Amino acid sequence: MNKEKILEAGKIASQVKEYTRTFIKKDMPLLEIAEKIEDKIKKLGGEFAFPTNLSINDIAAHYTPSYDDKTLAHGLLKVDLGVHVNGWIADTAFSLDLENDEENKKLIEASEKALENAIKISKQGITLNKIGKTIQETIESYGASPIVNLSGHEMKKYELHAGVTVPNFNNKKEIILEKGLYAIEPFATFGNGKVHDGKPSGIYMLIDEKNVRSPIAREILNYIIEKYKTLPFCSRWIVKKFGTKALFGLNQLEENQNLHHFPQLVETSHSKVSQAENTILIKDNEVVVTTE
Ligand code: CO
Repeated sequence: MNKEKILEAGKIASQVKEYTRTFIKKDMPLLEIAEKIEDKIKKLGGEFAFPTNLSINDIAAHYTPSYDDKTLAHGLLKVDLGVHVNGWIADTAFSLDLENDEENKKLIEASEKALENAIKISKQGITLNKIGKTIQETIESYGASPIVNLSGHEMKKYELHAGVTVPNFNNKKEIILEKGLYAIEPFATFGNGKVHDGKPSGIYMLIDEKNVRSPIAREILNYIIEKYKTLPFCSRWIVKKFGTKALFGLNQLEENQNLHHFPQLVETSHSKVSQAENTILIKDNEVVVTTE
């Protein structure tokens, strides 16, 4: 692991997060928000670890604006952003209440407190179910539920989801937390506490470099291999580079199983969801929160 690059990515992510809090207002186009965030990441010297997720209300995750998106910010908005430096990732998220709504505020407090408590007990040698238990108990103390089928994750170079998952509930699995880089991300809801697959998100990831026949698809595939490697990217970025003809190429790459297309993740009872996330580096009995 490259501690220096990990800390650099974390610092950029934390600065972008602070900047984002200053400009998001209700009714601002999500497209404009995503572009401001991504411009800032570039300006600070970072690369994108994944497309900026701007998920509203019952969409828990995996909403990123399309190139022609008209959605305006409202409700309970989750901002989940990722930066990498030489493949070393910082993954962080926060939620905003754009309605001055008591329920939204409570859910936001629940996921933030759960994150804080989980990080407090995180150290090399602890079992992952203890972190999950802390997250679950904290969120339940607000009368809410954690989303049990979303979890935090280990990260490796150019791999956003690698190795172990960090549960958001007590899954009774006594897996030991070892040295490494981890994202902890509690989600809170007053609903069922589960998500299912929604519409296609326009977020993709390379799964196979095998040949594809159409020239435009092949051109896009080569670009993805070079530019994003095994990190997620979105159709908006590909349209920016190749124009709208790229949408046809992306469909072909999906059909040919070069790409995985992620679905949006929606709370099963259509209840609102909040999220808080930070990245932690565990190294030689020292724990560093890289993204705050
Ligand atoms: Co994450």
